[in-house]
Amino acid sequence: MPQPDTIPSVPSRLIDGRSIAEEIHQATADRVAALGRRGIQPRLVFVRVGEDPASRVYVGMKQKTSERLGLSSETFVLPSSTTEEDLLALVCRLNQDPSVHGILIQAPLPPPIRETHVYASVSPSKDVDGFHPVNVGKLMLGDSSGFVPCTPGGIHELLTRSGVSLSGAEVVVLGRGNIVGKPMAAILIQKDKRANATVTLCHSGTREIETHCKRADILIAAIGVPRFVKAGMVKRGAVVVDVGVNRIPDPASKTGTALVGDVDFEALLPVVSKITPNPGGVGPMTIAMLMRNTVRAAELATA
Ligand code: GUN
Repeated sequence: MPQPDTIPSVPSRLIDGRSIAEEIHQATADRVAALGRRGIQPRLVFVRVGEDPASRVYVGMKQKTSERLGLSSETFVLPSSTTEEDLLALVCRLNQDPSVHGILIQAPLPPPIRETHVYASVSPSKDVDGFHPVNVGKLMLGDSSGFVPCTPGGIHELLTRSGVSLSGAEVVVLGRGNIVGKPMAAILIQKDKRANATVTLCHSGTREIETHCKRADILIAAIGVPRFVKAGMVKRGAVVVDVGVNRIPDPASKTGTALVGDVDFEALLPVVSKITPNPGGVGPMTIAMLMRNTVRAAELATA
């Protein structure tokens, strides 16, 4: 579905992830309160292995939000020398603990730990990340009984709640990762009135990536390359979602580095009909979906 040719004013061009996440948090907090009246408190356990600085920040933010919404939470911090066997033993213990409703093991995991093995060991009913093969399969099949990965689930909510029409839209997703790109495509291709898009998934093996981007009504950048998407790559009136969080050298900043997205935001702003700011776009939605998935896990476990 083509987006409007006229470009709205700058404020209405911005997709405000913070306020949309707050709307979702309100509904989640109401569900936490309803569980509380039955004597149930949803409990989310985080596992972080090693001291990846970004993972420390992300897990800290997720835990803080859990507490704000009235969930119980705990973070296990394991040294980077942890073996896969030790990590699997911890997951096994958490799977068996009935007080734990959700388990989140923050990626990336230090090698030689195999992420696929670890995620496959989490009970699908506690897999609030949606990374277990059962949940991945359900998403692909259009079976809504599984858990949807938080970042692509959050982008889907951002788009639908911002009034972006998906049915028939040409969507280009940049990046084929298991956390964003692949599940994003799986969500948007479903035969569902909230999806039904035509999706092109571009990656490092794609020829003429700019030509694909230029065709997109909706462009979702999760490629991990700082400011990869330039103004000349985007159709006038397109909707652009920036998933990237890239640290680059910045001699002008006090820390010597700066965080930038996968799109050249300033250059794209005059061209697009809608765009996510970064920060304040996708990030808060990832957390909102995690909270919602955890409360749903608690509801299902105690139904
Ligand atoms: N690392 C980056 N994004 C995510 C996520 O959504 N879940 C987990 N577990 N790790 C991540």
